Amino acid sequence: MLHHGGKLIQEARKRNSDPKEWLDLSTGISPISYPSIDIPQQAWHRLPEEEDGLVAAAQQYYGYPDLLPVAGSQAAIMALPRVIETQLGYKGCVLLPQIGYQEHHGAWQRAGWRIEFYQHKPLNAQLSCADVVVLINPNNPTTVKHSGQAIAQLESQLTTKQILIIDEAFMDGDDDASRLRSELRSNTLVLRSLGKFFGLAGLRVGFVAANETWRAKLNAELGPWTLSGPSRYLATQALLDQQWQHQVATRLTELKNEQLTILMQLFSPDSVRSASLFIRIEHPQSEALYQYCCEQLLLVRLCDEKDAIRLGLCGDKQSLIQMQQALQYAIDKLEKHNLSDAVTCRVE
Ligand SMILES: Cc1ncc(COP(=O)(O)O)c(C=O)c1O
Repeated sequence: MLHHGGKLIQEARKRNSDPKEWLDLSTGISPISYPSIDIPQQAWHRLPEEEDGLVAAAQQYYGYPDLLPVAGSQAAIMALPRVIETQLGYKGCVLLPQIGYQEHHGAWQRAGWRIEFYQHKPLNAQLSCADVVVLINPNNPTTVKHSGQAIAQLESQLTTKQILIIDEAFMDGDDDASRLRSELRSNTLVLRSLGKFFGLAGLRVGFVAANETWRAKLNAELGPWTLSGPSRYLATQALLDQQWQHQVATRLTELKNEQLTILMQLFSPDSVRSASLFIRIEHPQSEALYQYCCEQLLLVRLCDEKDAIRLGLCGDKQSLIQMQQALQYAIDKLEKHNLSDAVTCRVE
């Protein structure tokens, strides 16, 4: 299993502490989650029905008609290699971002595809031999964003047979670059998630936007009732609640700006980058930084390459203060450690 953020109980146990005392910024899930509401008894009692209004609510929210609900975009990420192999009749070559949500890599690797990596965008030579291209927009954890224009340019280089998968799990709130702004080509598929902006990661709801053929194939692979009745009900309410969406988008922008101001004072501003609901701080001693934060009961995400930490957004003033104090402690510890190393070197 791949390592992900959000393993708060595990980290708290390692340090014999109470998870409730920690500030968990290890994921990019919004700190403001759509409130839980009364779920009608029939959502528990009856089998989920496709005509229950979920798809209509999603069509309105995404402004796009061709959507398939899935149990989190993760479900689609895992199923797509098999679905595409069946469609093509062979295991081909997939282009993935070198750094990005690792579940994409895991899924294609398990399915036995040939994998090629690209840095920021695929090179022409790579494109010419790829059957599938995966784009994560914005990229978690690098924060790299692809503009609508850049995506159009990429699509113009693909033949009609080449498949493009765009993971837009973090697109909400600032969706100018969403591929759903215009009709998809027949071999472009877009993944969306209710886990991030709506703060409903536990609900396990996402959508795949794609034409009828892809939706039918994916649906057949995933099988019936992949989303529970209560998940469908709550997701429908969240997607329809425009007032909540606007209020939260505004609040998240304010919170993020406050957090960025603090982080730019603590770290070199060049090393701090953000996209959507997360902030990346590149640091040569990221591993130590991560450990010192844990000592202060602040859980951040140490990026797999160990060259950066990633922080989710703080949900209130108290969390901002807790984050600032923990990071200040970590920076002081690092400086002391580096100083004593320098002294030891001189003495030697
Ligand atoms: C870029 C990206 N895509 C997709 C997912 C999967 O999210 P979910 O299955 O909750 O929709 C994640 C989860 O962290 C992610 O970071």
